[in-house]
Amino acid sequence: MELTQKQIDDFHEQGWLFLPELFGPEEVALMKREAESIYSEHRPEVWREKNGAPRTAFAAHTYNETFRILGSHPRLVRPVEQIFGEQLYMHQFKINAKAAFTGEVWQWHQDYGTWKRDDGMPNPRAMNISVFLDEVMTINGPLLLVPKSHNAGDLKAGHDLETTSYPLWTLDNDTVTRLVDDGGIVAPTGKAGGVLMFHGNLVHGSSGNITPYPRKIVYLTLNAVSNHITKPTRPEFIAHQDFTPIEPVADDALVQHARSMKQAAE
Ligand code: SIN
Ligand code: MN
Repeated sequence: MELTQKQIDDFHEQGWLFLPELFGPEEVALMKREAESIYSEHRPEVWREKNGAPRTAFAAHTYNETFRILGSHPRLVRPVEQIFGEQLYMHQFKINAKAAFTGEVWQWHQDYGTWKRDDGMPNPRAMNISVFLDEVMTINGPLLLVPKSHNAGDLKAGHDLETTSYPLWTLDNDTVTRLVDDGGIVAPTGKAGGVLMFHGNLVHGSSGNITPYPRKIVYLTLNAVSNHITKPTRPEFIAHQDFTPIEPVADDALVQHARSMKQAAE
């Protein structure tokens, strides 16, 4: 899986790129099942909304075989290597639930704001790459992106410890308004299996989900090895300190794993 020059140019210009249906139905079904089973576990890596619904499950690539494979998948790793021109390690891995009826807001923010302030990441050379596990629609709390805002650099942010169960360095309304005047807002939508990559400084957020449709998304944050973090303040399961370069697995590794699990169950 290689990005075309046009895709790379689009990414640099807009700050994001959507790759529809990069994973097939068998791969998606496996990941959905495994995500739901992780949400049902009570472990420190699974964070809940204030109302108890799952919000995010961290570091599943370290304790779940399906997500271990996804975390080293060539369809995700190779495009980011192409953009950064070097090998990558996993800075963060999370499965965000945005549960039906109860999934809460993610306030406007830039991810690099948090990686820099909380983790001591030197430069915005880490990429968020998200894999849709459910269909993402305009109505079930899709990610809202402000195109071109990655060019605004590292913006002033305030530490919001109140709004949700997850502390976040968030942007004020005037800053968001100014950037939206220039770039507008897009909400990339698509079937489960689609992949959205976006720049660490791209301004984004999402609203709550009051529909019956869940919106699970896995996020890999792939950091250039030379840009590893230097001052971690968050637990290891949120900001990893293993900077070993990722060696991609075979392209069909998820399908093979799905089949071997099925055989074992028969
Ligand atoms: C994030 O910005 O880190 C998550 C947003 C979302 O899942 O809607
Ligand atoms: Mn974010």
